[in-house]
Amino acid sequence: MSSLSLKGRTALVTGAGSGIGQAIAEAMAAAGARVVVAEIRRESGLETVQLIKGAGGLAAVVQVNVTSETDLATAFQLFPEVDILVCNAGIGHVGTLLTTRGEDFDRMMSVNVRGVFNTMKTWVPGMVARGRGSVVNLASTAGLGGLVDRLAYSVSKHAVVGLTRSTALDLARSGVRVNCLCPGRVETPFVRTRIAEYPDPVAAAQEMASTQAMGRLAQPSEVAAAAVFLASDAASFITGAALPVDGGWTAGMFPKI
Ligand SMILES: NC(=O)c1ccc[n+]([C@@H]2O[C@H](COP(=O)([O-])OP(=O)(O)OC[C@H]3O[C@@H](n4cnc5c(N)ncnc54)[C@H](O)[C@@H]3O)[C@@H](O)[C@H]2O)c1
Repeated sequence: MSSLSLKGRTALVTGAGSGIGQAIAEAMAAAGARVVVAEIRRESGLETVQLIKGAGGLAAVVQVNVTSETDLATAFQLFPEVDILVCNAGIGHVGTLLTTRGEDFDRMMSVNVRGVFNTMKTWVPGMVARGRGSVVNLASTAGLGGLVDRLAYSVSKHAVVGLTRSTALDLARSGVRVNCLCPGRVETPFVRTRIAEYPDPVAAAQEMASTQAMGRLAQPSEVAAAAVFLASDAASFITGAALPVDGGWTAGMFPKI
């Protein structure tokens, strides 16, 4: 069987200062990779580096806003050779077509879609030139179907699935694999903030957990395990996949009946 080990690889994870990105950075370091934490909030990025170093791993931080080509060019100069690229940085937004403002829609596309495009544009050409590499993008179950009151977010995550599938096809014979993860609800600061915005946060948390077939939220480490698998040689024949990590949420058409 091919190995899940990432020994000798360099992994760059955007938005790795919190939540899923932090868990992915830790899991990849534990699997043997050197990890570059690319984070808009430098202090949060440093926390992740400390966690990894505390566990005996290798990590460095670089301050990057994924919407800034200048930031990405600077990060590329520091870390030109990346074997594993995790485009995880993303933001949320609550709203319908009637309540979402144009500027909020543009911000969601800028961070969640253009940010992934920019990050891939920065490191994927080098992977293609070297004939090897693995990209793992963070989409969402909201990229596989519509989500109530999350118009711009859902549109942005459908676009991440499209970016992943199209790039996977274009690069299928290059040695570079491109996949994305579609998590359901994961217990991270991102989701805790959303829950706190509801009039009854406790009821909202219970409702969110109950929509997922397994009846609970995921832990970031459960998404990270799937990212390590997709990045590793154990997934050597997997490209263009949009893998749900959602406790069965998208398995049923009528999950609440
Ligand atoms: N939490 C969930 O339930 C869930 C479900 C499905 C998909 N996702 C996706 O997973 C990813 C991570 O989500 P999370 O819950 O860990 O979020 P989070 O808010 O906990 O962490 C996101 C990180 O990205 C960083 N970031 C934000 N904008 C950035 C930018 N422009 N450039 C660089 N870094 C930036 C933040 O500083 C933060 O550290 C997102 O793409 C999100 O859409 C999350």
